[in-house]
Amino acid sequence: MIFADTHTHLYLEEFDADRRLTVENALAAGVSKLMLPNIDSASVHPMLALCDEFPDNCFPMIGLHPTSVKENYMNELAATECWLLDRKFYGIGECGIDLYWDKTFAREQEFVFRHHIDLARAYNLPLIVHIRESFNEVIRILKDVNKSDLRGIFHCFSGSVEQAKQAIDFGFSLGLGGVVTFKNNKMQETLKHIDLKHLVLETDAPFLAPMPYRGKRNEPAYIPLIAQKIADIKEISLQEVSEATTANAIRMFGL
Ligand code: NI
Repeated sequence: MIFADTHTHLYLEEFDADRRLTVENALAAGVSKLMLPNIDSASVHPMLALCDEFPDNCFPMIGLHPTSVKENYMNELAATECWLLDRKFYGIGECGIDLYWDKTFAREQEFVFRHHIDLARAYNLPLIVHIRESFNEVIRILKDVNKSDLRGIFHCFSGSVEQAKQAIDFGFSLGLGGVVTFKNNKMQETLKHIDLKHLVLETDAPFLAPMPYRGKRNEPAYIPLIAQKIADIKEISLQEVSEATTANAIRMFGL
């Protein structure tokens, strides 16, 4: 079985001691496509170094993470645009709105997100959208932008059936990670009503490890645990989850 991890930050320092081994463990677990969303201009070089080391398995994306939107955001946007002219990226992100940590730059976050929507359309790339405490804001912006040619992922989706359908109506897939395996989470009900064709798998490593590793460092090799949980909830086989979500990822990113 082959899996894709559509959201992993393997270039972060949490993996400095064993990055190569972590990729090899992922490959051994069948997780052979690793999509790397960027954070800011400082993370681009380590991200690209890993992608150059594993060109068949690690694929870079470019963008400015909402929690990295600070005073210098215009410089960061300029850097993102330069990178897009310089080499191939597979998605725009991680972008979106985060109202959980800090609302100081909420307006700038929205400006940057709208700019990323424009980049995704200009380069015909999927948009990786961060929606922490901001689902309604993101929906408001997408409604306002009102473009039918967008595609991408609502990263770490954990909402209601109604919210899932809103995201899907805008052309997006739902990124499902370790949260699905936590006790009493909303997705266990939502998932029963959402077709596999709208789902992709993600770890968000090193964050949000699935059960039984909750609280520990997450890594792409844990993707099958997330897939198994989805299979259990939907009462289908692991094979079906693997085939559908991998095909969805390959199609979305043009791998
Ligand atoms: Ni992330």
